[in-house]
This record gives sequence, structure tokens and C-alpha cells, in this order.
Amino acid sequence: MGAPPVAAKIGDAELHYDGRVFKLPVVEGTEHERALDISRLRDQTGLVTLDYGYKNTGSCQSEITYLDGEQGVLRYRGYPVEELAEKSRFVEVAYLLVHGRLPRKEEQQKFSDLLTRHSMIHEDMTQFFKNYPEHSHPMAILSAMVVSLSSFYPEMSQDNVDEELTHIDITTTRLLSKLRTVAAFSYKKSIGEPFVYPRHDLKYCANFLNMMFSSPVRPYEVNPVLERALNVLLILHADHEQNCSTSAVRAVGSAKVNLYAAVTAGICALWGPLHGGANQEVIEMLEEIQKMGGDVKKVIERAKDKKDPFRLYGFGHRVYKNYDPRARIIKKTCMEVLNELKIKDPLLDIAMELEECVQTDPYFVERKLYPNVDFYSGIIYRAMGIPVSMFTVMFAIGRLPGWIAQWKESQEDPDFKIQRPRQIYTGPTVRHYVPLEERG
Ligand code: SDX
Repeated sequence: MGAPPVAAKIGDAELHYDGRVFKLPVVEGTEHERALDISRLRDQTGLVTLDYGYKNTGSCQSEITYLDGEQGVLRYRGYPVEELAEKSRFVEVAYLLVHGRLPRKEEQQKFSDLLTRHSMIHEDMTQFFKNYPEHSHPMAILSAMVVSLSSFYPEMSQDNVDEELTHIDITTTRLLSKLRTVAAFSYKKSIGEPFVYPRHDLKYCANFLNMMFSSPVRPYEVNPVLERALNVLLILHADHEQNCSTSAVRAVGSAKVNLYAAVTAGICALWGPLHGGANQEVIEMLEEIQKMGGDVKKVIERAKDKKDPFRLYGFGHRVYKNYDPRARIIKKTCMEVLNELKIKDPLLDIAMELEECVQTDPYFVERKLYPNVDFYSGIIYRAMGIPVSMFTVMFAIGRLPGWIAQWKESQEDPDFKIQRPRQIYTGPTVRHYVPLEERG
């Protein structure tokens, strides 16, 4: 793969410091985003930058996903996410993210066949499930199983990471296919039902729903409305540039561990309630409001109270200071699914009332806090029969192609470096050891 295009230098910024003037290059990307390139700042000036949570810091140049938080724009490899959600399927979008273009017919077929062929997990892995503690969170199980894949598939081992890049088709499909199987098995484990194995006659999303909900005593008919809705949800979760979990995958991957270990880091980061775990928190918050008689104003006041650590889950975003385009599509899909299934979910009414109240509340308006991807997704998962504890696992299934694409891009970057940020030390200055008996 040829070296990726780099952001063009468009001029210099001047830094006046310590009686001198330093020139720092300014670069511009294909969507005219501009950055101050500080790669040589410390060599030139002795300064490092300090940027809590990397709010203003770009960690890399990337060709995968473009988003504009102010305009609410999101595109995967240039394709608007709205078009992909409407016209594509998750497997095709996974191919697009990893390979940089939509597959031709024969490539799509080969990818789909590989997904089918690699859908089983090693039978010995099922023993893990049997001995895992009864009420384990499915994200704990998922992370343990994914890192164990590197033991069951040693060709992904530590010492030949570059090999993986040549096997990326096998690696990608193996991981995409098996993560889905592991997710369904962890659900079956949590409800004490026997595992349902993947079927070769079902497509990706239908296979997942079948593994989740069929059983030897309860045949399950995949509802095409739910299959379509699941494709849309997974597409909308597939990538989101340098979010917390993707940054974890890149950081861990920069130490040249195998892909399974890097993805496991992403799973663990995604688990957090401020990140992918928010979809579970949203439903628990809506259920709490329902229990308290449906009064949304109380949670809104709590969310605004600086003394209260409670946050309005499903609202706000590090980048989107406008309506998250994914939330808009998920809300529409949510209403379509509930209408078509004739489901009346009181949590949807509460969610819509909450959104309405927030939209006119100065605290949220001033801070540009809008519904994000996690606000309505849980209501669709509920309609599918997926339990709240599995919601973040669903996010992980969707995000996996993005993690793989971002890992691959970072490994192929000609400027590849291990990630190692600097700091500003604020601890004690030098002092010397005092023996115990002299410490007073
Ligand atoms: C995801 O990065 C990604 O792309 C993530 C993601 C992806 O696809 O990978 O989009 C997925 O993680 C979506 C976000 C899911 N998380 C939640 O819904 C949790 C609730 N949201 C917040 O915790 C918060 O909005 C974050 C974590 C999402 C963003 O936090 P930031 O960017 O660090 O914002 P901030 O904490 O600096 O907030 C700015 C102000 C603060 O108030 P002031 O100090 O200015 O008075 O807004 C307030 C915050 O207290 N605020 C909220 C709030 N979110 C921000 N107040 C109440 N409720 C909230 N939800």
C-alpha cells in the first residue's frame, strides 16, 4: 500500500517566546481542517504542550472518517453516513472502512463467505464460558474472549504483527465473525440457555439475532424489520475517528502487540459510562424516571447541579456541538421499528419529552448539549429483546471494523511511532531518604 497522502503545509505560525520568534508549520487536510504541527516544538523551544483530554490535539492524520462537530457531518471514507445507513449493509461498510473503498461484487461475496467460514469459535473456548462467574458483565466476558483468540489463533502472535497486515482479510473477517458469536454466547451464558451455533444460511445480522434468540425448545423467526434496524445501528456505530476507545486501540497497537490485544483495549475503554457504556446508562436513567412517575425535570435539575456527579446520559459530546447525525437516524429508525412491531414503549415517550425539555433549557443550550448516538439506540435494542447488559456489547460489534481500520492505518503509517505523551511534573522537588527511626 503506497504511503497515504499527508496534510499539505500552507504556511507557518509564529511563536514569540523567550525573546525569540519560532516558526511552526500549519498544515491543512482535505476538508480544510488546519493544525499547528508541533512535532519539533520541544527540539526548537524546549516547550511541550499541555492539553487535558487532548481536546485540542490531533494524534494522527487519517483517511478513514471525517466528522464536523459544528455542522453535524459524519462520513466514512467520504460516504455520508446517512446514505450508508439507508442503502448499505454492515458487512459492506466494514469492508469499506478496512479497505478504503466499496467492494466489487466478487470481493463482497468472498468477504461474506469468509465471515461465514470463520463464524465458529474453537470448541475449547466454550469451556471459558462454562467456568465464568454467573453474573459477569458481558463486556468482561467479551474482553476476556477476544484477547484469548490470540491464543487459539497463534498466527496472530506477538512476533509477526506485520504478518497480520498481509492476512488482514482473514484477520478482519475472523475477528468480525467471532466477536459476534462470542457476544451471542455471552448472552446465552447469562440466561443459562444452551449456545446456539452460527448458521451458514443466514447473513451477518440475521445470524446474530438467531444465535441470540433461538433455542432448542423455541424456534425463532428472524424479523426482517429488526434485521434491517440492526444493520443500521451497526453501520452508525462502525467508526468515529479518534474517540476514546479507538485512541486506546491505536495507543496499545503502537507497542506492536497483536490486533486481538489492541482490540481488547478498545473493548475495555468502550465499557466506560462516559463512552460506549452510556447506552446502558440511558435506559437505566429512563427506567428511573419512569419509576419516579415520569418527571423528567428532576433528572434535568440533577444534571445541572455541579455538586451532583450525575450526568444526563445520552447527551453531550466531545466533538458534536450540534445534533449527532447518528442520533437523528437512530431516532427515526426507533420510531419506525416500534410502529412496525406495534410496540408502545413508554421509555420512548419519556426520552422524547426529556429531549424536548433539554432543547429549551439554557444550561444545555449554552453548552450545546444535544442527544448523542447513545440516546435512542437502547430503545431499539429493547424492541429486539436485547437486555440492557448487552447494549455496550452491541456498540462493540458495530465499532469493531472501525477499530480494525484505524489499527491497520496506524501500523501502515510511514511516520509510525509508539505513543508516549509528555507531562508537566508538579510533585515534590528533589529530597533525600530519611531512615525510619529518624522520621519522628
Ligand atoms: C460516545 O468521542 C466520541 O466520538 C464518542 C462516541 C463514539 O462514537 O465513539 O460518539 C460515543 O461516547 C458518545 C457519548 C456518550 N456519553 C454520554 O452520553 C455521557 C454523558 N455525556 C457527558 O459525560 C459528556 O458530554 C461527554 C463525556 C460525552 C463529553 O464530555 P466533554 O467533552 O469532556 O465535555 P465537558 O465535560 O467538558 O462538558 C462541558 C460542559 C461541562 O459543564 P461546565 O463545566 O462548562 O459548567 O457541559 C457539561 C459539563 O458539566 N456537560 C453535561 C453533560 N455533558 C457535558 N452536563 C450534564 N449532562 C451531560 N450529559
